[in-house]
Amino acid sequence: MTIKIFDVETGKEKNKKIEEIEFKEKEEDLKEEHYMLKEILEQPETIKKAAEQNEQKLLETAMEILRAKNVIFTACGTARYAAIVGRYLFSRIAKKFSEVIMAHEFQYFIDSVDKDTLIIAVSQSGETADVLEGVKKAKENGAKIVAITNVENSSLARMSDFVFYLNCGPEIAVASTKAFTGQLVILYLLAFATINKIQACKIKLKNLAKKVEETIIKNEETLKKLAVKLKDRGDFYYIARGIDFAIASEGALKLKETSYIHAEGMPAGELKHGTLSLIEDGTPVVVICPKDYTYEETLNNAQETKVRGAFLIGVSDEENELFDSWLRIPETEEIFYPLLTVIPLQLLAYYISVARGNNPDKPRNLAKSVTVK
Ligand code: M6R
Repeated sequence: MTIKIFDVETGKEKNKKIEEIEFKEKEEDLKEEHYMLKEILEQPETIKKAAEQNEQKLLETAMEILRAKNVIFTACGTARYAAIVGRYLFSRIAKKFSEVIMAHEFQYFIDSVDKDTLIIAVSQSGETADVLEGVKKAKENGAKIVAITNVENSSLARMSDFVFYLNCGPEIAVASTKAFTGQLVILYLLAFATINKIQACKIKLKNLAKKVEETIIKNEETLKKLAVKLKDRGDFYYIARGIDFAIASEGALKLKETSYIHAEGMPAGELKHGTLSLIEDGTPVVVICPKDYTYEETLNNAQETKVRGAFLIGVSDEENELFDSWLRIPETEEIFYPLLTVIPLQLLAYYISVARGNNPDKPRNLAKSVTVK
């Protein structure tokens, strides 16, 4: 096939280098019922693949993170929730404060971006218009750019000083699942690179891949039944504290986009500042409470919804009498829980979507890559 590119203003042909990118998967390769399910099930492998990163590049980027006056993540949707996990990781491991700004709001902060700012742009497609626009402006102000993306030679990759690829193969379903996991893996590696512990991190991640597999196997049947039971509910709430707050938001987003059910994710401590008034008899509340430093406080908040009639779905490594349904995850180190807690929430959204007769791969009104502002 011949492709010619012309300048819209002069009408003259432009001499542009065309690069071909090989997509290893084709639609007929699908064995599962939907791509979303296929991609959820692939995640143990995703973790291993995403962990294959060049150590020198990780260390150089880690130095930039530590050196920068301001570290700002910019992203949208699921990628932004990955960035929020990254923000917790940078604080906890690298002792580095950072900010996460929605890409479409980023332009309003551009005045405080300068050559001492490091921008970390997270985007599966690398083509999200709002992300590209923000990165372009940040570059003009002299900032350095780190890209975390899945698509080789994407516009974002080409604009960035450091690029980390997820290596997880094309993500076909509109709802992002394996890309989120891949993004987390790179953020773990970067955080551990700041303390010179890349190897230790890689070993932990390998171990986590097995636990993700276990999480899928242990919950599938419970989730299928739960989906049928809850498919007609109108509102879901997802609560968590600390690093898992991002997972509450991600769980709610997955449900919204695939099931068309209203859902909100929030820090558990925020409930009593308004949302608690919406809880009534039977309202599903997903409480993400791994047995870590957040456990007791999160459960206290869950209890506040339970006494108002909530149907509590607990995501934890420990069962609790408050739970009406328990989605079990294996025990792990505190900071690694997001890689496990997100799995049952992706599957819950998937099974509810299917139970409602939707096509989870192609949600109405949404596109895989949002290339317009
Ligand atoms: O390609 P990107 O990661 O930049 O896309 C960002 C969002 O549009 C994307 O994550 C969207 O929220 C997903 N459909 C969520 O599943």
